[in-house]
Amino acid sequence: MTTPDAPIGVFDSGFGGLTVARALLDQLPNEDMIYLGDTARAPYGTKSIPEVREYALECLDYLADSGVKALVIACNSASSAVLRDARERYDVPVVDVILPAARRAVRASRTGRIGLICTEATATSGSYDDALAAVPGVQLVTTPCPLFVDFVEAGVTGGDALLRAAQDYLLPLREAGIDTLILGCTHYPLLAGVISYVIGDDVTLVSSAEECAKEVFATLTDQGLVHHGPREPSLRFLTTGSPELFAGIGRRLMGGFVDRVEQVYTVAG
Ligand code: DGL
Repeated sequence: MTTPDAPIGVFDSGFGGLTVARALLDQLPNEDMIYLGDTARAPYGTKSIPEVREYALECLDYLADSGVKALVIACNSASSAVLRDARERYDVPVVDVILPAARRAVRASRTGRIGLICTEATATSGSYDDALAAVPGVQLVTTPCPLFVDFVEAGVTGGDALLRAAQDYLLPLREAGIDTLILGCTHYPLLAGVISYVIGDDVTLVSSAEECAKEVFATLTDQGLVHHGPREPSLRFLTTGSPELFAGIGRRLMGGFVDRVEQVYTVAG
C-alpha cells in the first residue's frame, strides 16, 4: 500500500526524461523523486520495440521495487513499447507520455493537420496513430528525427549542424501544412528553440514532457497521493552509465537540480 510520502519514479533512456522531471518539479514542488536514466543502453529510439520493451520493463521493475508511489515513463520510445501492459504489471499508477500529448494536440489543432516528430522506434510502433485513431478529422504526419537525440545526449542544443538537421527534418512538415507539432520524444523540448525557429511560430508546439507532468498531477490528485505539506524534496538521480557524465550533461541541460547522481548496475545489460 503506497502513501503520499513515497517518491515518484521517473524513467527515461537517458537525459530526455529530465524535461519531464523539471516539469514535475514546477507543478509538484513538494514531491520526492527517483529518476532513472538507462544511459548505458541509450539510445532506445534506434532499437527494436521488443528490445526497448525488455530494457524498459527492467528499469520500471527496479523503480517499482524502490517503493515509488507512481511510475512515470518519461520516454516516448519506452511508452510505445510497454504501453499495453505496464498498467497491469504494477500496483501503483503508471503515467506515460503518449496519451497526454496526443490529447493536447487534438485540442490545440484548428485544422486537424498534426505533425509528429519522434524516434524511429516510436514512429514504427504506430503508438500516436493508435492514440489518435478514434478522433475524426485528424491527419497525422510523422517524421522520425534520429539525429536530434544524438545532439541532446552530446549536450548540443544550438549551432549550424543542428540547424541544418532541423531544416531537413522540419521544412517538409511545414510544407505539409501542419498547424500543430507534437514533440514526441522527451529529448526534444531541449531543442524547442531551434525547432520553433525552423517550423515557425504559427505552428503550436506540444511538449510531451509538459503534458505528462499535468497528467501526473491529475493522477496523484485523483488517487489521494499528492504530498501536500511544503518540504525540501529529495531528488535522486540514478544512471546505468557514468555518473560523472550524467551529472555533467544533466546540469548543463537542466541546471543545478541534478545534484546527487548514483550508478546502478543491476539493470545494465
Ligand atoms: N527520450 C526518448 C523518447 O522520448 C528517446 C531517446 C532515445 O532514443 O533513447 O523517445
